Amino acid sequence: MATNQMWGGRFEKGNRSDVVAFNASIAFDQRLAKHDLIGSIAHAKMLTHTKILSKLEGTQIVAGLEKLQQKLMAGELGFSDTFEDIHMNIEHLLQQEIGDVAGKLHTARSRNDQTATDMHLFMKDEIVTIMSLLDELLEVVVTKADMNIKTLMAGYTHLQHAQPISYAHYLMAYYEMFSRDRERFQTAYNSANQSPLGAAALAGTTFPIDREYSAQMLHFAKNYQNSIDAVSDRDYLLDFLHASATLMMHLSRFCEEIIQWNSYEFGYIEISDEFATGSSIMPQKKNPDVAELIRGKTGRVYGSLFSLLTTLKGLPLAYDKDLQEDKEGVFDTIDTLKACVSLFTDMLATLQVKADKLQDSLTDDFSNATELADYLADKGLPFRQAHQVVGKLVHYGIANCAPLQEMSLTQLQEFEPLITADVYAILDPENAVARRISLGSTGFDQVKYQINKAKETLIEK
Ligand code: ARG
Repeated sequence: MATNQMWGGRFEKGNRSDVVAFNASIAFDQRLAKHDLIGSIAHAKMLTHTKILSKLEGTQIVAGLEKLQQKLMAGELGFSDTFEDIHMNIEHLLQQEIGDVAGKLHTARSRNDQTATDMHLFMKDEIVTIMSLLDELLEVVVTKADMNIKTLMAGYTHLQHAQPISYAHYLMAYYEMFSRDRERFQTAYNSANQSPLGAAALAGTTFPIDREYSAQMLHFAKNYQNSIDAVSDRDYLLDFLHASATLMMHLSRFCEEIIQWNSYEFGYIEISDEFATGSSIMPQKKNPDVAELIRGKTGRVYGSLFSLLTTLKGLPLAYDKDLQEDKEGVFDTIDTLKACVSLFTDMLATLQVKADKLQDSLTDDFSNATELADYLADKGLPFRQAHQVVGKLVHYGIANCAPLQEMSLTQLQEFEPLITADVYAILDPENAVARRISLGSTGFDQVKYQINKAKETLIEK
């Protein structure tokens, strides 16, 4: 077996073929080809700028790399396990393109800072795409909320009817969660926005390189300040995976509710046919597969976060081959996220809300009990006592199948003489919502205010 042509100098024997395959990352890191070429072009230009390479050498190398860029776009680049990873594959292809001068590109550089540079560049691009998908989702949430300010429903705690709310208020709760998710992706972007290039293997280099020059060319906001940290850091990927896991958790909660509300028992919403599937045996079925899959895929995204945390926890500084394991979980997370966010956005946009059913659920329940307790407290009864009175009324109502608003004034007064005819307006669910004026509450004016603020924020983006 021949020794490796890139590093085989000190070896007598070549690797076994299963070791070559085991060691290789080209099967997945070829996804970094575009960014590897961009990084290499910046490195070559920096080497020329600092006169580490001659003008001629620099020009030849850059021209060769640009040729490879064209071939990549045309789908004409072939990669092989023999060259282990994307970095050595590209170096080999460059050698074929321009001959031995290609070997000068790796001056003052190591695959350790190269792989880190590629991944930082790649993540910046991917995070921008994910943030713009999130913007589309936020837009749909706000549009739906705006259409449903007056749509009433029961707000739940413990999955029990709690108090009447506006459906728009419910939707805007998710707006807040997804907005924070977007901020978390911005943080992950900022973490990725620094250049490890020039750290070389771990200790920097004796060549008079100009890290500012290459960082600027690659549009990084700054350089890593410590060469050991630069090649060992994967925090920026953890930031991304954490943002992703939290976003998936939010999507999954929303999906869980869509699945419940789409059931026969709730019947509050109807998922568009495009996002549901049938059963091969039960002809009546319309299953919420897309929502279920988003909920299900949350698990693999959590898995990637834990996988990388675990990979990193015992690693001595600086580079260890374990770090090659940083990629697949992140790639998988990117693909999962993009599919989930864009499908969820469209599913939500086409979701039909059965406003009557939602509102009907408030006609014979006791979600207005707090209104009555507040009413009595307002009339001077200590709230704890008011709570007791209403509790007894609810108990009586359940036994007699009568919601509070259907009891006669005499019946109500038997429990508490402070109750007068004005109580019926208080018990109306629409009034219950309208009367809420505290900041961030479900009151129509508050919800409108939140929606308008959200719209302004989205326009600014
Ligand atoms: N394929 C490697 C990775 O993704 C590149 C860095 C290799 N460096 C090394 N010293 N073996 O981590």
